[in-house]
Amino acid sequence: MADAAGWRERARRVLAQNDRGGYTVPSPGLYPFQWNWDSAVVALGWMTFDESRAWRELDRLFEGQWDSGLLPHIVFHVPADTYFPGPGEWGTADRHHPPTSSISQPPLAATMVRMMSERAADPDLAKRAVAQLLPKLLAWHRWWFRDRDPEGTGLVATFHPWESGLDNSPAWDEPLAAVPPTSRAYARRDTGFVDAARRPRQADYDRYVYLMDFFRQTKFDPARIYAECPYRVADFGLNTILLRATDDLAELCHRHDEPGAAEEMGAAADRSRRALAGLWSEKSGVYVSRDTRTGRLLEARTHSTFLAWYGRVAHSVEVDRRLLAGCNDWLARVPQGLPSTHPDAPEFEPQRYWRGPVWPHMNWLIAQGLAEAGHAAPPTALRHSTRSLIARGGFREYFNPLTGEGYGGSDFSWTAAVTLFWCVPETIS
Ligand code: GLC
Repeated sequence: MADAAGWRERARRVLAQNDRGGYTVPSPGLYPFQWNWDSAVVALGWMTFDESRAWRELDRLFEGQWDSGLLPHIVFHVPADTYFPGPGEWGTADRHHPPTSSISQPPLAATMVRMMSERAADPDLAKRAVAQLLPKLLAWHRWWFRDRDPEGTGLVATFHPWESGLDNSPAWDEPLAAVPPTSRAYARRDTGFVDAARRPRQADYDRYVYLMDFFRQTKFDPARIYAECPYRVADFGLNTILLRATDDLAELCHRHDEPGAAEEMGAAADRSRRALAGLWSEKSGVYVSRDTRTGRLLEARTHSTFLAWYGRVAHSVEVDRRLLAGCNDWLARVPQGLPSTHPDAPEFEPQRYWRGPVWPHMNWLIAQGLAEAGHAAPPTALRHSTRSLIARGGFREYFNPLTGEGYGGSDFSWTAAVTLFWCVPETIS
């Protein structure tokens, strides 16, 4: 990106264009509401040029929080008819205003809040904003540990592939096959915007819809869902993000004079750190997820394994060495990394959403963890790769690792945000 200042300006314009009054839609048309983990990344992007707007992003996200602490994956602030399943489908409108979905997404927010407060040029504003967010973040994390890990295993469960954020990853093929397809009619809207070959398959959608309807039928009863949901997975990626966020939340509590909550979060993080180490698969040489209905490890090799450093999962020197060698190997196998699935895997599809393409914000999370662990070379390679993909293809949703082609939504908010704080930040041009 020769013209770094120009790229930054364009990225700011994308966020401004996708601003709907204090919250940012991921992409107009394709995703016309507020999404949970998108907004966490996007808030850090806003932080580079408008701090009060950055904090507002999270305030608006938490308008969707349920009394139980659940922070839904979509908040439907205002109606729009270009997305399925919209507000009328989830059955939450008479329980919560604004209406929301009934599932969550990777809990990045506490980590972003910590990063934002550490970068703040206006520390007083940051202090007030964090003080307001702290009880809400705590309620969300407690919800994860209570409703999603009722047996105290140290790993929280996801009840829907959308909760992982990696909707159609090959890691979910096996558990999703146990879900019956819906028998009701519905109309997808995503394939009106994006070529169907680059989106999840119809058979996957039939099961996504079945699960959504199942949650509504249980009246969102967490105990019933835990016991009866036909899909229940301990996702390695989500659990590492939760672990990191819980550590960061403990630190925020400590700084805000909440020693009891800091201790509570520290203890939860310790349990999770121990349990995550158990998801190392000797067979595949990567960290994997577990189907907690069957107890089986889901052996797909996906980029989530490289979140181990971001989550600060405690592992041996030997595992660290193998993981690092793996990361370098994945990068060497494709012209543009990091692919979301190992390029030699039979499930690898370089154009289909989470089954092969490169995702800029995942590259950033992985690079952040690697750099913090003292592994300098791969983060630089990841940053260069991401920069050149965006420089060639624009602020697209995801990219083909073999050809570099950009796919999915255009003017995508978290791609613009990542550009601002990572690919071409003011400090390194
Ligand atoms: C898709 C992605 C998910 C993201 C959402 C909005 O559903 O799989 O991770 O949050 O789009 O961008």
